[in-house]
Amino acid sequence: MIETTGSLDAVKVEGDTLTLEGWSATRGAGRIDDFRVSLRGRDLPLVSGDRDRPSPDVKAAHPSLDHADACRFRLKYRLDPAQVAEAETGVIAVTPLVQGRRGKVHIHLAKTSLPEPSVEDINMIGVGFLDVSKEFLTHFIQLADLKSDADVLDVGCGVGRMAYMLAHYLKPEARYEGFDIIDQLVNWASAKITPSYPNFHFQKADVYNKHYNPQGAFKAEEFRFPYEDESFDFIFLTSVFTHMFGKDVRHYLDEFRRVLRPGGRCLTTCFLLNDESRPLIRAKRSTFELVHPVGDGYTSNPADPEDAIGFDEGDLLGWLAERGFEVEGKHYGAWCGRPNFLSFQDVLVYRKGDLPAQRPTPPSKFRKALRDLFGS
Ligand SMILES: C[S@@+](CC[C@H](N)C(=O)[O-])C[C@H]1O[C@@H](n2cnc3c(N)ncnc32)[C@H](O)[C@@H]1O
Repeated sequence: MIETTGSLDAVKVEGDTLTLEGWSATRGAGRIDDFRVSLRGRDLPLVSGDRDRPSPDVKAAHPSLDHADACRFRLKYRLDPAQVAEAETGVIAVTPLVQGRRGKVHIHLAKTSLPEPSVEDINMIGVGFLDVSKEFLTHFIQLADLKSDADVLDVGCGVGRMAYMLAHYLKPEARYEGFDIIDQLVNWASAKITPSYPNFHFQKADVYNKHYNPQGAFKAEEFRFPYEDESFDFIFLTSVFTHMFGKDVRHYLDEFRRVLRPGGRCLTTCFLLNDESRPLIRAKRSTFELVHPVGDGYTSNPADPEDAIGFDEGDLLGWLAERGFEVEGKHYGAWCGRPNFLSFQDVLVYRKGDLPAQRPTPPSKFRKALRDLFGS
């Protein structure tokens, strides 16, 4: 992926023509020479492309971008009759290209077809709703190559924050399944999303978690996902492993392996403890002080450990490798105070490959003991 910056300033549908206006430029990769534009995952045919238009405003604001003085575009694409209506509530994805290499995807949604949850429900799952939903749809497409006909599992789906944008991207023949351990959230998503998008299903899993579901009947480490073997192309978890113990994470990874199709992908957000994040935590630059050992992870809050849990990066990568997951992307987050980041949490993208002939050596007890003694 090449580094690009830009914005989609205007999106208009007139008759059977979609017009896009905006600007896009690279940092160090030369001039943008093409765009790929899709509506709900289907590429649109270009009618006319007017690129390299003057952009003195961009040059003034971003002087170090390549060709910043001539990077505006006006592009026209043909829509078939069904797509004219679909363009209202379907996700338009615009990807700048340089000699076929992809830059950052811009996501556009003209109008949402769903209500937003209450502030109370949103506060139960974190900060932000539509902006976070849009951000993660971009990551799913960009980092995990999510297709609009994929069968998708959202583990710890909460109130359907990620389902919200996905509903405008996935085609009706795609399947979305989400489960969570909080009744109230799953009930809202079922009542508000499923009637408009019947291919979206939400269910409660009564799994114990001291922070989120203290009355839960089942242990996470024993919970069998209610889905058939090899029934999904893509599994994601946003801010869920950050609330689970290591033994539970390992069991969930076993379940991912079971329900993913061969070659299927996962995207997980997490807190990775490594040579960059640990010193930042010690220097009090981190949002979470993940320093208290809990199982084989570290929490910021021993009284309520599932509030925030991180893992040694080597350990988590080892758990993936043991299960035949090949890491395709590792994108560090802002949570610990680092200056360059993709998102707030760290993001891992991994693909179901062959199981290793022999399970690799388990994480070294010596390594862990040294870390606990010396803190790095
Ligand atoms: C910070 S919220 C994130 C919710 C959702 N993924 C999102 O990004 O909007 C964490 C969620 O993980 C869920 N959760 C915690 N432990 C879980 C488990 N063992 N299995 C499934 N979900 C779990 C919680 O109920 C909560 O909804």
